[in-house]
Amino acid sequence: MPKWLKDAVFYEIYPQSFYDTNGDGIGDFNGVIEKLDYIKELGCNALWINPCFDSPFKDAGYDVRDYKKVAPRYGTNSDLYRLFGEAHKRGIHVLLDLVPGHTSEEHPWFLESQKAEANEYSNRYIWTRHAFESIKGYPYIGGESERAGVYMLNFFKSQPALNYGFGEYKEGWQLPTDHPDCVATREAMKDVMRFWLDHGCDGFRVDMADSLVKNDDEFKSSTCAIWKNIREMLDAEYPQAAMVSEWNNPERAIKAAGFHMDFYLNWGGNGYSTLMRDYESGEDHSFFKKDGNGDIMRFLDEYLPRYTATKGDGYYCLLTCNHDTLRPKYNLDDQELKLTYAFLFTMPGVPFLYYGDEIGMRYQQLPTKEGGYHRTGSRTPMQWNNGKNAGFSTCPSDALYLPVDPAADAPNVAAQEADPESLMNTVKALLRLRHEEENLQADGEFEVLYAEGGKLPFVYRRGDLILALNPSGKTVSAPVDTDKKKLRFAIGSGEAKAGKITLQPQSFLVLK
Ligand code: GLC
Ligand code: CA
Repeated sequence: MPKWLKDAVFYEIYPQSFYDTNGDGIGDFNGVIEKLDYIKELGCNALWINPCFDSPFKDAGYDVRDYKKVAPRYGTNSDLYRLFGEAHKRGIHVLLDLVPGHTSEEHPWFLESQKAEANEYSNRYIWTRHAFESIKGYPYIGGESERAGVYMLNFFKSQPALNYGFGEYKEGWQLPTDHPDCVATREAMKDVMRFWLDHGCDGFRVDMADSLVKNDDEFKSSTCAIWKNIREMLDAEYPQAAMVSEWNNPERAIKAAGFHMDFYLNWGGNGYSTLMRDYESGEDHSFFKKDGNGDIMRFLDEYLPRYTATKGDGYYCLLTCNHDTLRPKYNLDDQELKLTYAFLFTMPGVPFLYYGDEIGMRYQQLPTKEGGYHRTGSRTPMQWNNGKNAGFSTCPSDALYLPVDPAADAPNVAAQEADPESLMNTVKALLRLRHEEENLQADGEFEVLYAEGGKLPFVYRRGDLILALNPSGKTVSAPVDTDKKKLRFAIGSGEAKAGKITLQPQSFLVLK
């Protein structure tokens, strides 16, 4: 287990939209380098950068054309190597995004695979034997190649699935996972990983990590076996490299597949979604909504068994948002966000902060860009100040990758820096607290002290600290003995005495 994860707090950067240094309207590596001090000041000591590799950008870079070359719009490979170095100087680790399940349809492997004549890459993707032989249960494309056969897709039409083999292989064209050509796919992915790790990257966020083996069993045993094999390589060659999976099944991703971390993703109706995004029904019952009448048990009932099952083996990670999810500011105001972040940043596991959520950037209603669709509105340029293009770029506004928030009161870093009560300064204070108190970090003990369906507050213990949370507009109390502990940190106010803890509306207390 990489030791640095214990006190890691990640900052996710969508590179298109972070900071543009050459005035072409799109973010770049030099922009990330220039803002490393900002990220460090905020309290983040690790980055996850969305795919920044050569790509036709039909899915914002999740359609990789060359795994070993960065997209020219962000700079050169040397710029990225320099970014690793500059980050390391500041104690910041950097994860890149590994997309192992598919490539772009323009990847040279796929161009070879499409050829009629058999070659090294014929089985790198999944093809049937005839132009009219279809694939059951998976999306596929026919009629596009000189090769007679249809090929399987992993996501969009532009993303053909790489061939790691089949768990259950019935048809002649379905290969077992130990077929040399399927093993070659896995080894090619290891080669990509080694390439970046050797150049100074600290690990990977892994896209669609559960999607490798097709017709896998219900436990995804064959997919897990591939990841275990990759983990063995890392343990032997790069023991400090970290891997986080887009899987949302920590028992499987951490225990069976060997990932160090797994994301708790916003899937409609799941435990995490009830915290911040429970508005699908038209009424908002999110736990952190002041008038939402939210219920923490809907989160805990799902979270606790997963946490308990994986404790000691890896981290189930909470996030403010990501590039696929509506920003939390969509439905929560700054006060609600302060309490949300207080919770997310004091729970076990490794927290992830999506760029711009520290200032409460809004979700924008926008037409789709590079395969973003509804996700596009969460991918707009970072708002640094109230100058031109919110300080993101000096380009003419119509040349921006995506428009900046046009609102007169669009939040920005400069304004929030100057306001001690701002959301951003609260984020800083919370992250400082987390770094100072080892018990609040990834491995610190966690125990629920008071959580009742439909009641507040929510009170939990992390080592020698007791934390109490009241996101509602009412004063609430709970029978919790805080044993002479003193106030260590507060948002809002409250008190603890005689076996009872009381919190004023929208408050959060940390007692030590
Ligand atoms: C993951 C990414 C998403 C992408 C998809 C296909 O879900 O987070 O942005 O579109 O995989 O690669
Ligand atoms: Ca640029």
